Amino acid sequence: MSLMQPSASISSTSSAFLGQSTNNSRISKVSVPASAKKNEIFKCMATPPSDTTVYKTKVSRNANMAKLQAGYLFPEIARRKAAHMMKYPDAQVISLGIGDTTEPIPEVITSAMAQRSHALSTLEGYSGYGDGQGDKKMIKFCWVVYIFHIYLYIPQPPPNFFCKMQLRAAIASAFYGKLGIEESDIFVSDGAKCDISRLQILLGSSVTMAVQDPSYPAYVDSSVIMGQTGQFQKDVEKYRNIEYMRCSPENGFFPNLSTVRPTDVIFFCSPNNPTGSAATREQLIRLVQFAKENGSIIVYDSAYAMYISDDRPRSIFEIPGAKEVAIETVSFSKYAGFTGVRLGWTVVPKELLFSDGFPVAKDFNRIVCTCFNGASNISQTGGLACLSPEGIKVSFHGNA
Ligand SMILES: Cc1ncc(COP(=O)(O)O)c(C=O)c1O
Repeated sequence: MSLMQPSASISSTSSAFLGQSTNNSRISKVSVPASAKKNEIFKCMATPPSDTTVYKTKVSRNANMAKLQAGYLFPEIARRKAAHMMKYPDAQVISLGIGDTTEPIPEVITSAMAQRSHALSTLEGYSGYGDGQGDKKMIKFCWVVYIFHIYLYIPQPPPNFFCKMQLRAAIASAFYGKLGIEESDIFVSDGAKCDISRLQILLGSSVTMAVQDPSYPAYVDSSVIMGQTGQFQKDVEKYRNIEYMRCSPENGFFPNLSTVRPTDVIFFCSPNNPTGSAATREQLIRLVQFAKENGSIIVYDSAYAMYISDDRPRSIFEIPGAKEVAIETVSFSKYAGFTGVRLGWTVVPKELLFSDGFPVAKDFNRIVCTCFNGASNISQTGGLACLSPEGIKVSFHGNA
């Protein structure tokens, strides 16, 4: 057993705990340096299990997990890159692995987050759980106005009473001002990747899905985990029951929809990771038309939309009729450097209905309330600062 430095991060095989409060025999074998004892908090590595005492539970492995190939793609790319660099230290590697950001977050944004963070130490500024869908800072104010209304014998709640979420409102007006998307259609989240998984839970295991080929691996892996696919076919390197829509230079990185097998769900990413190709308005009109003809739902990932500099759509909702067939998931990660801060949002328009007429947004709301307790209040303040006039000026260039 080796003792870690107090400052070392906690790995999956280590734990942090209060020093003297346990009888655990493994812990009693740890020799604790005086400095760690003084603070009564330390971290230690678990003893690797010995080969002779392998204990197995009676729980069967999730068969869908067993279908997944090797590790998730990005850690695997990082591993191979590191191995290559060990061998060829002077190599100039262009990494097509995880699209992490490199530039610091502009100060106007970090100071807003710092302020909110410090306010949490005060009685007036403290807030705990927020609304799962987005910051409820405005709710206190709304209740005051509502109670005032009741006091004046006005039975109706004031306009926008139920649209109480600050960041939702800011996103609606900054990105969807003229597109008819309202703040109640927006669900603030801890990032697009987490929302992709929550959307998969929403959709369930019996849907069929199509995906651009190549594309961001989270769509396929989350689909496998949900049980929407068959086994991986090694010869073609594809999962059974997923429709792979080839996007290559030959077809202008847009699938030939006349050869695509209709599916319940179409994951579509524009600008695409990894090709960088952004769909044109005409192509997206065709995609929406295709979804409508087949009764499909498009999950449109526009994590990189802010990098579009010509007149290509930044949102699927720029396309007429998209509100009846599409969900959009977006991120603060790339353009604002929030990969570590964690903030994003998903738009589920109220016009989007399941085959029985039930609004998809109502079910998504249920998923969000069950699986998520809302994005961090500090990151939401950062998001608001990104959307302030000063934040907009400084965030739209810098990170990549
Ligand atoms: C296409 C795409 N969608 C979503 C994400 C994840 O975004 P977030 O950091 O908001 O989870 C990434 C990150 O690389 C991405 O490339």
